[in-house]
Amino acid sequence: MRAAIILAAGQGTRMKSHHPKVMHALAGRPMIRHLLAAVEAVFDRVVVVVGPGMAALERAVAPHATVVQAERLGTGHAARQAAPALEGFEGDVAVLYGDCPLITEGTLRRLVDARAGADLALLAMRPADPAGYGRLVTEGAQLRRIVEHADATEEERAIGLCNAGVVCAEARHLFRWLGALRSDNRQGEFYLTDVVASADGEGLRVRAVEAPEAELRGINSRAELAVAEAEVQARLRRAAMDGGATLVMPASVHLAWDTRLGRDVVVEPHVVFAPGVVVEDGAAIRAFSHLESCVVRRDAVIGPFARLRPGTEVGEGAHVGNFVELKATKLGAGAKANHLSYIGDATVGEGANIGAGTITCNYDGVHKHRTEIGEGAFIGSDTALVAPVRVGARAVTAAGSVITEDVPAEALAIARGRQVNKPNRPAKKKEA
Ligand code: UD1
Ligand code: CA
Repeated sequence: MRAAIILAAGQGTRMKSHHPKVMHALAGRPMIRHLLAAVEAVFDRVVVVVGPGMAALERAVAPHATVVQAERLGTGHAARQAAPALEGFEGDVAVLYGDCPLITEGTLRRLVDARAGADLALLAMRPADPAGYGRLVTEGAQLRRIVEHADATEEERAIGLCNAGVVCAEARHLFRWLGALRSDNRQGEFYLTDVVASADGEGLRVRAVEAPEAELRGINSRAELAVAEAEVQARLRRAAMDGGATLVMPASVHLAWDTRLGRDVVVEPHVVFAPGVVVEDGAAIRAFSHLESCVVRRDAVIGPFARLRPGTEVGEGAHVGNFVELKATKLGAGAKANHLSYIGDATVGEGANIGAGTITCNYDGVHKHRTEIGEGAFIGSDTALVAPVRVGARAVTAAGSVITEDVPAEALAIARGRQVNKPNRPAKKKEA
């Protein structure tokens, strides 16, 4: 049995935010959820240490246990708060920082493996800029102590090997060391990192496992959040391409943590995927499109400049063209909505053609209403469909119609003012 304690009680002052730091999103989900995904793969139990009044964070980490650190007295003090929740637990306990969410499952496995050969194992890195990180003081393979940046001498600050903030030891050792922490340091805090000196002082083996900075960097500011986002995006793009999707200009495509792209999907430049998108094999997502919580079936073509909003399903081989917005709409196989339309709360049958400028008037100011368009229907350009309304299979609406009543199958509906031509009324020209 292995347990993990995740420290997330800090507000993250340097983020200058109204939300707890670990709730800031990477690829569309809170950073803490990224960390949990890796942790859940390696640890059997998880306890998250939160601050007072962080209900949204507690919901975000459910169903894992949470404990509240009422006073923010340092990382060691925070870890100690998890002791009652792990009462009687025997086995290894790791402590992780909620603001280091890029760590991978593979690296966590290396850590727990290293723990099997040492009494205390921790993750270390050699960051390009070590400022702010705790430095590792070693003697051969043994780690003697960690000195926090704030407390370090010039000489110690020159050490390149830094603490990534993940330690792992048997529960009985860890909680003993945590219980003995003192706060007589520059920041007046109980440092988790002091467990290293305790273990070393007891003559126990302490080992560091090195991993790349890209996985272990901490997020303390908006700028660091952006660096972490870039890392997450790079991984997601790489996985999408490994899975058989073509990203024509990868760096310009923004993916969500759960975006699913099938084989031979082609994504053109500047496409944004918000969470919840599935794109099936062979579909094309053309430039400058925005998709959220929707399904694009095989061989469909979306965009350029299309917007698919939540609850939309675009059928096999269907086309959604420029400046077309679909919301909670099911577009049948082979149907086309190619230009300048808003289709919301609608079902569009197979092979139907939605003319340029068609609008579903789905909202009466209080309620949303549905529009149903039958298979093979032809909706003339600039039709306004005032919902609730139904257009039958293979029916036609004349261009510019305002359709307020159901149209039977195969009927032609014309609902517009008749044109009047007045003779002898030439256009007036300005006198030269
Ligand atoms: C910490 C480490 C440092 C390491 C760096 C890696 C300590 C003393 N220092 O520094 O050695 O190089 O992380 O990124 O551990 N937290 C609480 N309660 C507290 C204090 C912090 O829950 O009382 C949480 C924070 O929410 C955060 C994490 O612990 O998620 C780390 O705290 P932070 O203040 O960011 O530590 P650093 O100064 O970055
Ligand atoms: Ca930090």
